[in-house]
Amino acid sequence: MSGIYPPKEFVKQANFRDPAIYSRAYENWVEFWENFATELEWYEPWEKFLDDSKAPYYRFFVGGKINACYNCVDRHSEMRNKSALIWEGENGESKSLTYYQLYREVNALARGLKELGIERGSRVALYMPNIPEAVVAMLACARIGAIHVFIFEGFSARSAEYRIRDSRAEYLITADGYYRRGKLINLKEKADKAIESYKGIKKVVVVERAGNEIEFDEKRDVLYSDVVERGKVDPEIVDSNHPLFIMYTSGSTAEPKGMVHSTGGYLVHVYATSKLVLDLKPDDIIWTTASLGWITGHSYGVYGPLSVGSTLLLYEGAPDYPEKCRTFEIIEKYGVTIFYTVPTLVRMISGCDPSLYDLSSVRLIGTVGEPIEPETWLWLYKDVGRERVPVVNTWWQTETGGHVISQLPALTPMKPASVGKALPGFEIAIIDDGGKPVKPFEIGHLVIKRPYPGMMLEINGDPRSYIQFYWSKFGKRIYFTADSAFMDEEGHVWVVGRSDDVLNISGHRISLIEIEHTVMGVKEVKEVSAVALPDRVKGSVIGLFVVSENPSEKTGMRIIEEIEQNIGKIAKPGLIVFLPELPKSSGKVIKGAIYDAVVNKKKSEHLSNPEVVESLTKLKASERGIVVL
Ligand code: PRX
Repeated sequence: MSGIYPPKEFVKQANFRDPAIYSRAYENWVEFWENFATELEWYEPWEKFLDDSKAPYYRFFVGGKINACYNCVDRHSEMRNKSALIWEGENGESKSLTYYQLYREVNALARGLKELGIERGSRVALYMPNIPEAVVAMLACARIGAIHVFIFEGFSARSAEYRIRDSRAEYLITADGYYRRGKLINLKEKADKAIESYKGIKKVVVVERAGNEIEFDEKRDVLYSDVVERGKVDPEIVDSNHPLFIMYTSGSTAEPKGMVHSTGGYLVHVYATSKLVLDLKPDDIIWTTASLGWITGHSYGVYGPLSVGSTLLLYEGAPDYPEKCRTFEIIEKYGVTIFYTVPTLVRMISGCDPSLYDLSSVRLIGTVGEPIEPETWLWLYKDVGRERVPVVNTWWQTETGGHVISQLPALTPMKPASVGKALPGFEIAIIDDGGKPVKPFEIGHLVIKRPYPGMMLEINGDPRSYIQFYWSKFGKRIYFTADSAFMDEEGHVWVVGRSDDVLNISGHRISLIEIEHTVMGVKEVKEVSAVALPDRVKGSVIGLFVVSENPSEKTGMRIIEEIEQNIGKIAKPGLIVFLPELPKSSGKVIKGAIYDAVVNKKKSEHLSNPEVVESLTKLKASERGIVVL
């Protein structure tokens, strides 16, 4: 088999070293998963591993009773001298909680939340930055059987409002503010705006993180420090398929959708893959650089590592602020052992010289969220890892809850930029439109052929979209990922990108349709087409091609403002081009013609208005900013 073999020193100590794991999992799939499940603690064992009678509503560990917080915290709480969480603020403050302290803090908040009226099944929105209280809030919700709905702190008030409304959240936990690139961001102000016209929120709990001035509604708002109550709360014993959380993500529609995840199956999946893929052990310090508000933050920033009993490193701010190489400083300072990040961050810090830092503690590097090009992968492997640590490239989605395709770090040869093979316990295929497997190296649809424990339960309140997005193209037993990919003869996969109108920017998913919908809210805009353009650092950026009565820098700025207000800064376009008409055929905008003109300098021949692409071919592919043609 070709590829770079896992480093010997790593293999010696790895959790999984026997290649037979693949065939064993294939032949005895139920036992494979059940073995992991039995390593967790259940109040009552499951009666059935999988109920697929209502496919595609697959239910795992049916009849099992469990509590996620108990598994992540209580069962490790005897470790009074071991950190569960180490936190660094952007301005350099640092704080840590032992497992015992985490246990006390989670109990104290869980008690307080119960006092406020939060109970099993209540939906609690968390609009919080990466601070320890956010981890505590997730676990406190899990402890009492409440369902958390985390909203990334960088989202605008309007984005937060949509998620709060759609999830029918009754409570909100937020913070006064947080630091980002040296700026104090008033989060409470955004939170207030988000619930201004939504009357469903009964109480708002405010963590005093930054001490900034905030508006305080005496009837509705309570301080976190006034909510926590010394004492304990028994973990709520919930059914395996009781929802643990809802996580919103973009699909190919104007509105994001809430993916509902289970408790038992999800926890088994993230626990198993934390050990299989990230090789996590209790004495590891894992730094998952994602915000807690993304699925990566949930699965490998909190639930996976804590269920294994490892230590989390949580960082509040920007990874390249105030020093470009802060990422390496943090790894060195805390002796991070597992570094799990996105290719965009790696590209951002690729100007740093890793040999200037002591990175010897690192024993595994992982990436996620977007394709990684061979140069970036090789830099991680050679310069950062010094060819002594495996670099795994993990493919998965908000919907899948946890890893699906990746190298097993001690077993799978690494091929730069490939995501490796389907993990043991998973079955995937790459198929054509008719559902037939494509030949090696041919691009096709990436699909998942067997259900697996961490898969989402449903889309919150939207059964139609659940079926339509994932289970209609190839039927109710083949999950459509919306990714295009190809495989080599050895079953290693390369992900090409999304086949729908979704863009991965810096590892975050953004819907082009949602952006177009937002831009149409600017009155000067007559027509717009959003196209993903390749970018050296971010992987992709948004290019907006706009027809306007007033094509100008000012209109461009209005568009940016509208996007920032409705979605957030992460969706800021890299390029806005005003042009007299959009390229069309039979009245339909042809996005491929825009892309081909700007990126490949090719003029599409099948347009009703071919002249419009002429000027687009003259734009530099690296052009950024606002351009009037
Ligand atoms: O296109 C794939 C890409 O990210 C999408 C899922 O995005 P999201 O739900 O936000 O979850 C991101 C974190 C799990 C996928 O459909 N993607 C994810 N991992 C990879 C990837 N693309 C290439 N390589 C990866 N390793």
